[in-house]
Amino acid sequence: MAISTPSIHLQPALRAALSTSAPRSLATPVDQKPKNLKTFSIYRWNPDKPTEKPIMQNYQLDLSTCGPMVLDALIKIKNDIDPTLTFRRSCREGICGSCAMNIDGQNTLACLKRINTDGPKPVKIYPLPHMFIVKDLVPDMTQFYKQYKSIQPYLQSEAPEGKEHLQSQADRKKLDGMYECILCACCSTSCPSYWWNQDEYLGPATLMQAYRWIADSRDTKAEERMAKLQNDLSLYRCHTIFNCTKTCPKGLNPAKAIAAIKAEMAMS
Ligand code: SF4
Ligand code: SF4
Ligand code: FES
Repeated sequence: MAISTPSIHLQPALRAALSTSAPRSLATPVDQKPKNLKTFSIYRWNPDKPTEKPIMQNYQLDLSTCGPMVLDALIKIKNDIDPTLTFRRSCREGICGSCAMNIDGQNTLACLKRINTDGPKPVKIYPLPHMFIVKDLVPDMTQFYKQYKSIQPYLQSEAPEGKEHLQSQADRKKLDGMYECILCACCSTSCPSYWWNQDEYLGPATLMQAYRWIADSRDTKAEERMAKLQNDLSLYRCHTIFNCTKTCPKGLNPAKAIAAIKAEMAMS
């Protein structure tokens, strides 16, 4: 009887050990999980080798080890496969506008664009179209920002210094759908008029911001702002094709803002 006590205590422990070890030996080890492979075909151009033509370079990722967005894939490729791959990004949540690029034929933000898992087709990634390229997926935004600066994108008011600029709720509402623009340039670089007349035509992003200040009840320079647009090229190169509105990743409507400027200028 004296030896039965330890055997009673040992049996449950043994059973527990057996019950935990059995499923482990049957489970598929992590590195043998079936892979969910996806190919990313990415535009590459290196300014240090200017005589070499741009190429499309393929990378394969196991999507089960990667986040769901195209930016997650780009970051994974850069971290794990090819540190020379160059692209802009910052906020990772559709706020900074820096990850704008052309993905599967559409200008959009890589951080808001889900990886297409529908079928084996590779995800094709180019820089924003019709822009000079700094490297790989990085466009030169110099002209875009120069144009934005030209519309004086800040409040100009004759209200006494140090006083609040009061605005009714109804007037404030007129700015909705414009102030949210993050200047990603997806719209301007999808506009055929902008592609061919980038030197003179301001493009939808800049024009919508011009209207954002024209429509602001606190700003006293609306007439001067509109006078600057009164020429053949800055505004009237828009032919209302609506590519800009279709592509905006923030769901804004620059074509509507451009039409509103034209209407106000026709009445003034
Ligand atoms: S309107 Fe839309 S697409 Fe154009 S710059 Fe602003 S956020 Fe980007
Ligand atoms: S509506 Fe005007 S700004 Fe927008 S894509 Fe067409 S031409 Fe360009
Ligand atoms: S990383 Fe900022 S908008 Fe995509």
